[in-house]
Amino acid sequence: MRIRDEAQLLPWEPTGVGPWRSRNNAAAWPMVCSAMRASARRGLLLPFVIEVDGHFAGQLTIGNVVRGALRSAWVGYWVPTPATGGGVATAAVALAVDHCFGPVGLHRVDATVRPENAASRAVLSRVGFREEGLLQRYLDVDGQWRDHLLVALTADEVPGSAAAALVRASRAQWE
Ligand code: ACO
Repeated sequence: MRIRDEAQLLPWEPTGVGPWRSRNNAAAWPMVCSAMRASARRGLLLPFVIEVDGHFAGQLTIGNVVRGALRSAWVGYWVPTPATGGGVATAAVALAVDHCFGPVGLHRVDATVRPENAASRAVLSRVGFREEGLLQRYLDVDGQWRDHLLVALTADEVPGSAAAALVRASRAQWE
């Protein structure tokens, strides 16, 4: 899926070493997966698969989980093209936010997104993330240092549940 979606993913993902196809083929996955597992075991990362009706519909990662006085993390995600446009990422981010502010016990979740990434900005805005500023030449994406908007949510800004708020707004439904 990621090889097929190269044109959709490449403009938004950190620059990698080597061609897209070799970074994303099946042989590359075990190393990526074991690195994520190792970070997850240390409590630094929460790697998720997004499923719709039992079918793979992307990945969502909660990264850089910091405890102590910060209790913060970032969220990142992608959805394969055939599954886009139906609220999948919005629902996944809302569920992840609820998980972070619930069982994980975080106080803040933030995200960085390129200003040009209208779809991802819409996802974050729907879930309630607010803009905090522009990080200039922040991340090496698609071969260049790219500006990113920093958006964030703190637990007090989500009274109840982010997923329940989507359901109330008729943008998702409980099964
Ligand atoms: N211009 C403006 N808005 C758009 C556009 C566009 N070109 N395309 C889609 N949208 C809007 C949709 O109308 C919808 O908004 P709405 O809820 O107000 O109607 C929103 O963007 C998309 O919402 P979802 O359907 O929940 O999202 P989807 O499941 O389609 O996934 C995603 C969106 C994750 C951005 C997907 O397109 C993708 O994987 N893109 C490539 C990778 C990527 O950009 N990942 C995010 C990087 S930034 C980060 O991780 C914090």
